[in-house]
Amino acid sequence: MPVPKLRIENLSKNKIVIEGKRRRKIPVIRDLSLEIKSGEFVIILGPSGAGKSTLLRLINRLEEPGSGSIYLDGTNIKELCTDRVRRRIGLVFQVPVILTASVREELSLPLKLHNLKVESDNHPEELLRMVSLDTGLADRDPTQFSLGQKQRLALARSLALKPEVLLLDEPTSALDPASSLAIENLVLKLNRRTGLTILFVTHNVEQAKRLGKDCAIIIDGGIIETGKPEEIFERTTNRAILDYLGRS
Ligand SMILES: Nc1ncnc2c1ncn2[C@@H]1O[C@H](COP(=O)(O)OP(=O)(O)O)[C@@H](O)[C@H]1O
Ligand SMILES: [Mg+2]
Repeated sequence: MPVPKLRIENLSKNKIVIEGKRRRKIPVIRDLSLEIKSGEFVIILGPSGAGKSTLLRLINRLEEPGSGSIYLDGTNIKELCTDRVRRRIGLVFQVPVILTASVREELSLPLKLHNLKVESDNHPEELLRMVSLDTGLADRDPTQFSLGQKQRLALARSLALKPEVLLLDEPTSALDPASSLAIENLVLKLNRRTGLTILFVTHNVEQAKRLGKDCAIIIDGGIIETGKPEEIFERTTNRAILDYLGRS
């Protein structure tokens, strides 16, 4: 058996909520385990507040778990420096964040931050091609782009470091339907063509069905079912999942 690209083992994370003068600990991720093979495209599907973003933040080491472990190619990510983890695991947020006023600069920024050189497969024009943006946009000001174009650029920027895993946190939920479809097709193609391992987080059951890949259903901080949404809906007796999948 090959070592999985990502292995999440009994992960738990509490958050502190302040209610008046009282501080209360609430479990956000509860004993969550999941394995993702190299080259897989997995959808993390669950309602708002289920812990999806927290899970991605833990995988990217933007947060540390209370207990449990995450392994990348069999190595506990705690043993790697955070810089290295973030170089190997890219993260794209729900709302595109653009940091500079030049596409070229935006796309070389990650390389500068990590002290890396531009190579033939991650120069700005190549990255634009990878996200189906016109290479003529390289010298434009991205703050003037549409949201859909900004999100493609954010995706291209995350590819500059040639990550092994890409975490997408509801990457289309701020976009119009046409831009959303375009991003869906883009990331499917990226996975197919380059073998990049992708975790696509969504709360949208219709989107999960459209993507047509295996889902891990997360509710209340735990993964309770995996498989295609239609198959899960057929076999599960879990009330929370039936309600959730039936709502679409
Ligand atoms: N910084 C925080 N402090 C306290 N509670 C938080 C914090 N971030 C998230 N939460 C809570 O953790 C739960 C999971 O949040 P999140 O991971 O953002 O869920 P999702 O991305 O699935 O909507 C929610 O109940 C949310 O209110
Ligand atoms: Mg979220």
